[in-house]
Amino acid sequence: MDVTFVLLGATGDLTKRKLIPAIYHLLANKAVDKVLLVGVARRKIAIQSILKEAKTFISKPNNNIWQKIVVSSYYQQLDFYDEEHYAALGRRLENLEAKHELSGNRLFYLATLPQHFDTITLNLSKTKIARQTSQNWSRLVYEKPFGNDLASARKINSCISRAFREDQVYRIDHYLGKELVGNIAILRFTNRVFEPLWNRHHLESVQVTFDEDIGLAGRGNFYDKYGALKDVVQNHVLQILALIAMESPQKLTGKFIRDEKAKVLKKIKVSDVLLGQAKPYRKEPKVNPKSHTETFSAIKLNINNNRWRGVPFYIRAGKYLHRKEVSIHLKFKPIHCLLTTTCPSDTNYLTIRVNPNEGFTLELFAKVPGQANHVQSALMDHSHDRLRQISSPEAYQVLLHEVILGNQSLFVRDDEIEHAWKVIDSIKSRNWKVFPYPAGSPGPKELSLFEKKHKMRWR
Ligand SMILES: NC(=O)c1ccc[n+]([C@@H]2O[C@H](COP(=O)([O-])OP(=O)(O)OC[C@H]3O[C@@H](n4cnc5c(N)ncnc54)[C@H](OP(=O)(O)O)[C@@H]3O)[C@@H](O)[C@H]2O)c1
Repeated sequence: MDVTFVLLGATGDLTKRKLIPAIYHLLANKAVDKVLLVGVARRKIAIQSILKEAKTFISKPNNNIWQKIVVSSYYQQLDFYDEEHYAALGRRLENLEAKHELSGNRLFYLATLPQHFDTITLNLSKTKIARQTSQNWSRLVYEKPFGNDLASARKINSCISRAFREDQVYRIDHYLGKELVGNIAILRFTNRVFEPLWNRHHLESVQVTFDEDIGLAGRGNFYDKYGALKDVVQNHVLQILALIAMESPQKLTGKFIRDEKAKVLKKIKVSDVLLGQAKPYRKEPKVNPKSHTETFSAIKLNINNNRWRGVPFYIRAGKYLHRKEVSIHLKFKPIHCLLTTTCPSDTNYLTIRVNPNEGFTLELFAKVPGQANHVQSALMDHSHDRLRQISSPEAYQVLLHEVILGNQSLFVRDDEIEHAWKVIDSIKSRNWKVFPYPAGSPGPKELSLFEKKHKMRWR
């Protein structure tokens, strides 16, 4: 398979840090035979300087493979708002594809901010650059965030649906490219020991944790307009939650998985929220010194369906925290403790670790050796890397490969995006107080009141 990658936003951070390294790895792993890479953005720059920076994000690049990228990469200056520039891009693509003897499969990656999505979509459609024939395909990949509320997401979706078919459209949530997120459905639906227990009769609560120990890493301008709810909860966290809570799809493929996720997202009802802002946040470059943007959110929500009625889902997501951890904790209901002299202090947990150290842990109870009827907790721990003996591929490499294969299951459909924005809009429509917290802490001190109020304990 050969592919023309058109990277719209080629001078940006994402292209250098993630996309070009992912294309390199696709070539290195022989997932593609041949590529043409055409970077597109406004400023005047040589492709060599973009490649030079991108190379620093590849560990120990193989020179032969890197040279394949160097000899087939180009830059085209283009303003997203100038239709003429797209016509010039179209001519350039035709010429380069002929020169490199490529079949014209085109992957357009919109590596830029969502306010440009409508215009780019319309211009690609009008100028017929993203055309499909019986011999080749054109697919469009939209980076997250997809809009900044329900209204803007609907506007982009309606623009896309007028210009392209949904099977050409890939809305990125790079967390769906992570090994362990991809493994959630497999873990649930291929293990008899889990699926019969995965419901309100046996589970007491579910927690999804998205703790980051870093701050803004230079994204002040963007983050101050978005905050934790729009930056990670709307997408990564709700997507993980939908995979945990969905009914079994008829097949583990695009349409069926997306149908089931959409049904869950539609049934979410938020019941409590705690927002926080890290103390150093307002001093970050490009952040309003009086900003009320939240860098932390804790949410209690319910999924109003037969499987989950009465089971609280707790979400925690924030930056500047004391640890880096993305995980899911399923807490089982307690057993009636009649048979042992020391009862278990807690209940069973299944913990799925998405990041770091991907894997899962099942906390069981077992006899204390040498002591009759005394129990202690025993951990059954699986580390994914140990099984594979190599580290998991980067999410962007996985996702680009899926786009090339035409598999949409790891991408978010228009209705899922809109249901998720509805959840965030319902939180934003109420004026929640934002509590301060010191950097390096677990979050605002009000978290312990949240625990008491809901009779729960954060993991
Ligand atoms: N960086 C990451 O690791 C990362 C991770 C996940 C998601 N994202 C998301 O991905 C998107 C892009 O992120 P980024 O960090 O790469 O942003 P960025 O560094 O600000 O890059 C934006 C790109 O858009 C181009 N651009 C803006 N206006 C343009 C116009 N009118 N015509 C042509 N080109 C234009 C810029 O080119 P010129 O300045 O040369 O015009 C630049 O190449 C954002 O929505 C971000 O939230 C980024």
